Amino acid sequence: MSATDEIKARLDIINYIQQHVPLKKSGRYFKACCPFHSEKTPSFVVNPDMQSWRCFGSCAEGGDIFSFAMKYHGWSFTEALKELGKQAGVEVEEQTPEQRERADYHDTLRGMLQSAADYYHEQLLKTPAVLAYARDRRGFTLETIKAYGIGYAPEGWSHTIDFLKQLDYHEDMLLEVGLVRRNDAGRTYDYFRNRLMIPIRDERGRVIGFGARALSDEDQPKYLNSPQTALFDKSHTLYGLDMAKRAIRDQETAVIVEGYMDVIQAHQAGFTNVVAQMGTAMTEHQLKLLVPRYAHKIILALDSDAAGQNATMRSLEVARQALQADYTGKLAVDMRVLQIPGAKDPDDLIREDPKLWAKGVENALSLADYVIQSEITSLSDTSSVQEVTAAVHRLLPTLISSENKMFSNQNILKLESELHRLKSKLRIEFNVKDLLRWADEQIRIDQSRPPRRAEPLPSSSDEPPDFPPLNYDDAYIPPDDEDSEHYHASTPQPLKSVLPPRYRSATAFCEAECLGVLLQQPDLLFQVNRRFRELADTDNELLAGPLVEFCHDDFNQGEYRQLMMIFQQALTQDDIEPLPYVQAHVDPALLQQVNTILAGVMEQLRPRLRHGLSADLSIVMKQAAHVDLKSILFKYSLDLRRHRLQREREYLSFLLMEAQ
Ligand code: UTP
Ligand code: MN
Repeated sequence: MSATDEIKARLDIINYIQQHVPLKKSGRYFKACCPFHSEKTPSFVVNPDMQSWRCFGSCAEGGDIFSFAMKYHGWSFTEALKELGKQAGVEVEEQTPEQRERADYHDTLRGMLQSAADYYHEQLLKTPAVLAYARDRRGFTLETIKAYGIGYAPEGWSHTIDFLKQLDYHEDMLLEVGLVRRNDAGRTYDYFRNRLMIPIRDERGRVIGFGARALSDEDQPKYLNSPQTALFDKSHTLYGLDMAKRAIRDQETAVIVEGYMDVIQAHQAGFTNVVAQMGTAMTEHQLKLLVPRYAHKIILALDSDAAGQNATMRSLEVARQALQADYTGKLAVDMRVLQIPGAKDPDDLIREDPKLWAKGVENALSLADYVIQSEITSLSDTSSVQEVTAAVHRLLPTLISSENKMFSNQNILKLESELHRLKSKLRIEFNVKDLLRWADEQIRIDQSRPPRRAEPLPSSSDEPPDFPPLNYDDAYIPPDDEDSEHYHASTPQPLKSVLPPRYRSATAFCEAECLGVLLQQPDLLFQVNRRFRELADTDNELLAGPLVEFCHDDFNQGEYRQLMMIFQQALTQDDIEPLPYVQAHVDPALLQQVNTILAGVMEQLRPRLRHGLSADLSIVMKQAAHVDLKSILFKYSLDLRRHRLQREREYLSFLLMEAQ
């Protein structure tokens, strides 16, 4: 996660703006007189769900927390990053020469891993027996084998060593990424021998390690994975995310499975929103790779054996704790569980019949139903009152941790009716009132604990001096406000927004994609504008109005908005090409973003290219069908425009309502 994203995930826009402008809560929004121009009636509106602000008065501006901070304090993006970073407890370091060097070294290591992957892949293609295993036993098509870079590490002690040394990589580097081991006698040998090799890539598609499957049952362990290295940390990685993230974003849903094979099989069958946690329970880091950036719904589809069910429970507990610690509500997520019938895993199920998978995904149980069901099935008519009560108490924390009170109450009603159904069997009856009282107590206990930081902060002191106040209630809401009454009345109440902040993550993705394409092929902007004009058709008002050109106002994220503005400036001069112009004129802190965005676009083209990212940029550009970039831009620019109109419409109807 970039520092910018991290900051946005930790700071709440209401909290922040409130430090400078007295906001008044009104319905779902907050409003004030615009700090940027003088006015008597408030036209400055902040939307906590979208984490954005907008002035409808004469300055007619808007954006996110970064745009606000920059405009309010007159900061550059770099300054805003530094200041907001301080407040959020996010370390925003400028790269020192040593860090630069280290980053370059990591790039070299990744390049080496890519070479190893290419080598293994080549070996697979020329070893008929293993190719047959991949195709016949695993059911992978040749196309799949190529797309996922599946390979074969030959039998023998030094094939990998020899191959990589011949490419001038030093032995220490091989040891560092775990491709090679050293024995007691000091001799090095290949770690992966006679195994099917699955390259593990990070979110950006760079090889960071391998999963290696034995080819026969006698060979143990079944999977040998790269050890934890500077590049690879299993608990921070979701296998397949590089290939899956687009589908996950489009569907706003991710399915998490246990293994590599499950992912590849699912993708091959067209279910491309599947990623793997690689054997263990889901970690908070893995959850945050998905939420809120790509998904708002997560379906756990772990194996049906005891280990899988245990991992499911532990994963749910991780999610519950992360949600509880997340006082801004940004991690709000709809967790579901897909139970695979019989002693099967997703791989088996999909190979048996892909329709079974689709059905399973559709019918996945809600978190509440799943935990109720699994606790209730553990009870029988010989269970003691204590056992039943203990089961109910185990359930409650999960049931009340849903996004808001309404869901919690529904969950508890569900539990009650489930217990009621078992009444004769259990000889004990609960009523909703008791359960709700327990639940309330639980909430109070949870709230009296200090909030847990989502992640340990790098090198910060013990006390959190700059951390924003956690409670809207006493800090901000003027007592005479009608709406705030209702806000007060429900204390103590978890500080979570009711709606998932879907706009933020959805637009952030589209914004980066659009910028990426435009920076590569600036002329496409004119085509987008032509397309917008076509769509406006004969609507003259629209054609004459400020809406028709695709511009920085279509961007909601502060950093992207800023980049788009500089890009537009770049087009008004013709001394330098737009990309170098942007690179030369952009805030130093945003330069990193430019590179990330460009890498993002390259990555999308990668599956279509035979030589991956290692290919020369000019070849990439030639091979990358112009059409692809254009269609990406067309799709996402329209999405952005749609989001912008939606934002504006919501704000306007709010102001209208206010005026009446
Ligand atoms: P499974 O044992 O369920 O693997 O482990 P699978 O995908 O069904 O394998 P096949 O179908 O028998 O080939 C799921 C995941 O757990 C991790 C791997 O990441 C694997 O994909 N695992 C499993 C290990 O790391 N080591 C092991 O020995 C076993
Ligand atoms: Mn399997």
